[in-house]
Amino acid sequence: MAGTRLSHWSRNLARAQEKLCISQLRNKHEYSQEARERARAVAAYYNQSEIEHVAEQKSVRLTPWMILYSGDSHHLDKYLLKSAQYLHKELPVRVAHRIKSFHGLPFIMGCNPVILRVHDLYIQSFKQLHNFQAIKTAEDVKEYAVLLERLLDDHSTVIKDLATGFRQCHKHLNEEMLGAHMARKFLDRMLSSRLAIRMLAMHHILLHRKEEDHIGMIHTKFYPAKSIEKFTNFTTKMCEYEYGKAPKVRMCGHIQAHFPYIPIPFDYIICELLKNAMRFSVEHHSSSYGNGLPDIIVTIVNNHQDFIIKISDRGGGIPHEVIDKVLEYNFTTANETTNSESNPMGDMMSMANQGPNGNSKMHGHGFGLPMSRCYAEYMGGSLVVQSMQGYGTDVYLRLKRIDLQSESFRF
Ligand SMILES: Nc1ncnc2c1ncn2[C@@H]1O[C@H](COP(=O)(O)OP(=O)(O)OP(=O)(O)O)[C@@H](O)[C@H]1O
Ligand SMILES: [Mg+2]
Repeated sequence: MAGTRLSHWSRNLARAQEKLCISQLRNKHEYSQEARERARAVAAYYNQSEIEHVAEQKSVRLTPWMILYSGDSHHLDKYLLKSAQYLHKELPVRVAHRIKSFHGLPFIMGCNPVILRVHDLYIQSFKQLHNFQAIKTAEDVKEYAVLLERLLDDHSTVIKDLATGFRQCHKHLNEEMLGAHMARKFLDRMLSSRLAIRMLAMHHILLHRKEEDHIGMIHTKFYPAKSIEKFTNFTTKMCEYEYGKAPKVRMCGHIQAHFPYIPIPFDYIICELLKNAMRFSVEHHSSSYGNGLPDIIVTIVNNHQDFIIKISDRGGGIPHEVIDKVLEYNFTTANETTNSESNPMGDMMSMANQGPNGNSKMHGHGFGLPMSRCYAEYMGGSLVVQSMQGYGTDVYLRLKRIDLQSESFRF
């Protein structure tokens, strides 16, 4: 019943959308081939009965331990078959849920070309995943892994597109329609689901590679300090490229701590936090050279339940007027010259950040902090920003350990 109501609503809305777009474009004497295609894309936005049907199914989420145990290398071939069969059933459901979530966005967003492009990409991916033959043989497993790799690649610009689309729509919508609350709800669901899909797909692909100390995407001897060091080197180069100098990063606390963990979301978050800390350390001390810049201090703490990373900078802190906004999507104090497509930091970021976001040219979109918080919460943790206005900022990242006793989180 609800499905029928939704279809009626969808069809009416699709017709209205189509008319709206066509009339807008006719008024401008631009009813070209491009306009017709866009109108058709808008109509398709709401008209997907097969997707609606699959979206009614519930997602089956796994615990890290399920993955860690069953990925055991002694039974790998059997596991790869089971893993591919699970994904074959599960991924179309998750992708269908995402496509449906677009339909809850305000009317005008359905006309935004960048959002339509992302929506269309999800529909194409749904079709490819849903129409893939039943997986029975080792050959099917291989073919399926190739499809997953291709889809991961196709979706690599989704974050940048969502950031751009939301920013463009923000201008046309009043606060009531597109409040921070609505944006956060949609984007948190969208990004955490995307992260989970990417982790599951990458786990399956990485299982084929049989790397030392790894079971698929799980690093069995994960040292937070080593990952932080890697991203310190990376962000230092970015910072030097952008500003001609960079602060030092000092680590303290449980530097030797190691345990099984999933580096994908951790790497992404650390990179974003270091990028912010470096940028503000340099900008706040613009007259200091070389050793004159205050160090960034990273404290690592490990216990049997979780691990905590504190990143402390002396970049002047976050002003009182904006502190409540820094965790909102699309909020940034980067000016136009640093947030555009021409930003070199963004380009380098896209080249080297092979994280789950696959982001490109992300600098200045105002996505670093909210997306990091979204990932941290999805991984059973939290991200808290504490500002000492006039001095510096402390960011606390807390993440749950993968643990047998409690169900820390599910993908
Ligand atoms: N360490 C910090 N010190 C001072 N201000 C900060 C710090 N971290 C974040 N901010 C403020 O919060 C805003 C939002 O940060 P966020 O990382 O989400 O976006 P961004 O850095 O502007 O762009 P992006 O991360 O998408 O490249 C920043 O523009 C800045 O004003
Ligand atoms: Mg940032």
